[in-house]
Amino acid sequence: MKVLIIGGTGLISTGIVKALLTRGAAITVFNRGQTDDRLDPDVRHLVGDRNDIPVFEHTVTAAGLWDVVIDMICFRPDQAESAVRAFAGRCGHFIFCSTVCTYGNTQTILPTLETTPQAPHSAYGRDKVACEQFFLRAHAKGGMPVTIFRPSHTYGPGGNVINNLGWSPTFVDRLRRGLPVIVSGDGHGLWQSAYADDVGVGFAHAAGKSKCFGEAYNIVADEVVTWDEYTQRTAAAIGAPPPRLVHLPTDFLLALDRPRFAALEEIFRFHGVYANAKLKRDVPEYRSATPYAAGVRRTVAWMDQHRKIVSADTDPMEDRLVALWERFSQEAIRALAPRP
Ligand SMILES: NC(=O)c1ccc[n+]([C@@H]2O[C@H](COP(=O)([O-])OP(=O)(O)OC[C@H]3O[C@@H](n4cnc5c(N)ncnc54)[C@H](OP(=O)(O)O)[C@@H]3O)[C@@H](O)[C@H]2O)c1
Repeated sequence: MKVLIIGGTGLISTGIVKALLTRGAAITVFNRGQTDDRLDPDVRHLVGDRNDIPVFEHTVTAAGLWDVVIDMICFRPDQAESAVRAFAGRCGHFIFCSTVCTYGNTQTILPTLETTPQAPHSAYGRDKVACEQFFLRAHAKGGMPVTIFRPSHTYGPGGNVINNLGWSPTFVDRLRRGLPVIVSGDGHGLWQSAYADDVGVGFAHAAGKSKCFGEAYNIVADEVVTWDEYTQRTAAAIGAPPPRLVHLPTDFLLALDRPRFAALEEIFRFHGVYANAKLKRDVPEYRSATPYAAGVRRTVAWMDQHRKIVSADTDPMEDRLVALWERFSQEAIRALAPRP
């Protein structure tokens, strides 16, 4: 099986490459050659920028025909149009990496299924929906069988450890030093985190599978946790003390600094619970196999090795906010609580 991965050295795509190698695939990756490359020496490299559209289309078409193309870095309709020009009639199966942000996160019936109407409320989600629709039209025209994958949060070596407020690089240091950690709402928001190598297996075993043609799949972990539990488990897994969790209203955080908490506004304030039963039915090789503790330990080991963990001293805002919040809330309780 001759496979082209657009991307290929990223967080999820490294896992896809590993899993495809176990299937004996002949793999080519297309990327700029800038990201740290942890790939097997048998993987062939095409170097280029996918946004240099003529060069991208020429490079991937000159390299021949493909049994499978996996596009990991298509974010805009113009990139989707370019992919269809390059691959319609030239590949046996095209897999587009979309996102669960296409649903819009405001569902009240959980888990979110692939049939749940898509109502994205971020530009990222809206553009991914436009790409999905463009690829599905190409599928319907018969030029290239298309499959859509919608990952939710995916983590692993090569990436970082998120927290409920976003992608702060100081989170791990805060946990290790026992500093208070802010969790929005009452900490009961629900979340799923999938390990990148597990997600890679799902993509790799869908490759070339006719049952998956024309279908969309959520690709997510089995386990659902609250954000409080996520934070506590992360601390325990990396040998940090039990975290002191401080709950602050999301609306208050957004009023304070909307740009800083943009990810909270778009994603993390909502329950992120998605079903993976359809994927397991059609791609039974997919398993949410890696326990969170093991996955996060490997991720933090990689972050330590690559000096990706930033000292909490560089960002005093969280400590100041916690101190003020606790003072004001104590004052409010003293002033307003009913006297016995
Ligand atoms: N991780 C998550 O939690 C999550 C959740 C939902 C959806 N997703 C989706 O997952 C996909 C990301 O996959 P990933 O984790 O494998 O990627 P990634 O970690 O973002 O890595 C990006 C890959 O693309 C290459 N690349 C970046 N810009 C390029 C360009 N202009 N031209 C050519 N190559 C380029 C990079 O190599 P060079 O830097 O060397 O070019 C690298 O191989 C996205 O479509 C995203 O929407 C991720």
